[in-house]
Amino acid sequence: MATYRPSLFAGCNAVVAGGTSGINLGIAKAIAACGAKVAVIGRNAEKAEGAAQALRDIGPEAMALIADVRDFAAVDAAMAHAAQQLGPLDFVVAGAAGNFIAAADALSSNGFRTVTDIDLLGTFHTFKAARSRLREAGASLIAISSGQAFQPMWGQAHASAAKAGIESLVRTLALEWGPAGIRVNSLSPGPIAATEGVKRLVPQSRIDAIASRLPVRRFGSAGEVGNAAVFLLSPAASFVTGMTLFCDGGMMLTPYDG
Ligand code: HXC
Repeated sequence: MATYRPSLFAGCNAVVAGGTSGINLGIAKAIAACGAKVAVIGRNAEKAEGAAQALRDIGPEAMALIADVRDFAAVDAAMAHAAQQLGPLDFVVAGAAGNFIAAADALSSNGFRTVTDIDLLGTFHTFKAARSRLREAGASLIAISSGQAFQPMWGQAHASAAKAGIESLVRTLALEWGPAGIRVNSLSPGPIAATEGVKRLVPQSRIDAIASRLPVRRFGSAGEVGNAAVFLLSPAASFVTGMTLFCDGGMMLTPYDG
C-alpha cells in the first residue's frame, strides 16, 4: 500500500544530489512514487544511470546527471540541465556525503577538508546552483544531516563538524529565502540498514547491540527516510521551515556509549 497519494507531486520536478544509492536513492524513489519527475546527481555514471532506470520504473520521468558536488561549475551545469529537461524545480535534496572513521589524531588536514567539502560546501553548492532554477512560492529544499551534528561521536570530527555546519546553513537559507516562498529544512536519518554509512561507521559485530539500544529496537530503511522527506517537501509541511526532522528510531534519545 502506498504511503502517500500517487499524484501528490504530479507536475512537480525534483533533483536529488547523491541520489544514486542508499538513503538518497530511497528519498528519490519516494518522491518519484508521488508522481514527480526526478533527476539524480552522482559522481559515477554507471551508478547514476542505474538509479535513473530504477526511478523510471516508479515515476513519470527520471534522469541521471554527473557532477562532483565539490565543483560548483559542475553542479551548476547539472542543475541547468535538469531545469531545462524537466522544467522549474520544486524540490531539491542535498544529500551527497563522504565519510570514514578516523580519530582526530589520525586525521590529516586534507582528510578533514575532503569530508567538509563534500558534505558542507557540497550542500551550499547544491542549493546555490538550484536557487535561480526553483519554481518560487512553494519550492522546498532538504539537506541531509545527522545526529552527529548535535552529539559527538568518536572518529567523526570531520563529518560531525560538516553536519553541524549544514544545520546552521539550513537555518540561514530558511531565513533568507523564506520571503520568496522557499522552505529549507534538514532531515537527520539514524542508522539505516544496508547503506554505505552503516557499512563505514558501524562494525558488523555491533549492529545488534546498537539496534537493541534504539527505542524502536531496529535499524530503519531508506524507504522510511523517503517517507519523512516527502512529508517535508509536501504542502503538509507548508508552515515548517528552518527545522530538523529526526528520522532515527529515537536514536537522539539514547546516550551514545562512545
Ligand atoms: C583517514 C582518510 C581515510 C580513512 C580517506 N582519508 N580515507 N584518512 N582514514 N579511512 C584521507 C586521505 O588519506 C586523504 O588525505 C583525504 O582523506 C582524501 O582522500 P581521497 O581518497 O583522496 O578522497 P576522495 O577520492 O575525494 O574520496 C572521498 C572519500 C571517499 C570521502 C575519502 O571515501 C568517498 O568518495 N566517499 C563517498 C561515499 C561515502 O563516503 N559514503 C558514505 C557516506 S556516509 P591525505 O592527507 O592522505 O591527502 C555518511 C553518514 C553520515 O555520510 C553520518 C555521519 C555524519
